[in-house]
Amino acid sequence: MIGMFSWEILESACKTCNRCRLAENRTNVVVGGGNRKAKILLIGEGPGEKEDLSGVPFVGPAGQLLDKMLACIDLSRNDVYIANVVKCRPPGNRDPEPDEKNCCIEYLRYQFALIKPQIIVCLGRIAAQSIIDSKFRITKEHGIWYKKKNCWMIATYHPSALLRDAAKKRTAFEDLKEIKKKIDELGII
Ligand code: URA
Repeated sequence: MIGMFSWEILESACKTCNRCRLAENRTNVVVGGGNRKAKILLIGEGPGEKEDLSGVPFVGPAGQLLDKMLACIDLSRNDVYIANVVKCRPPGNRDPEPDEKNCCIEYLRYQFALIKPQIIVCLGRIAAQSIIDSKFRITKEHGIWYKKKNCWMIATYHPSALLRDAAKKRTAFEDLKEIKKKIDELGII
């Protein structure tokens, strides 16, 4: 789909994309944000209302919690790159449909190829099922490391899920500690 290999071409392909119905109602395409040279790639589900309006990932309430989660393990947005499985907002924040995810995943693959992360953190089930395993069960398989294409991958709860159910925060904190351990082990920050 995208012939050449650069951020500029990727961004322009995303911003003019009409491959699925999500293009119809978007205000902005949320390509991603953070440090393009980061060794850690965080992957969320898709833009919400505030992200659609601003074009920046994780700027709403889930984003504020994400910043706190990062701070817990001494990370800031400048230490990571943040992308989503789909780059346009699903109406009413519904889950993205399979065909919408399929249309968009190629952009994420390009981002992966450009960033070459050593660690991928999937935020929630949708990201984990798109990246790690289509049958991924977040309640059972969060906090477990997988290695694919020379990259370590792990999933934890999506910050929106933590906002809905604070009891999961303790579990997510254990996952964050695992991530911190791997960062130290790999010596990447
Ligand atoms: N939730 C996501 O999954 N991604 C965002 O960018 C914002 C909220």
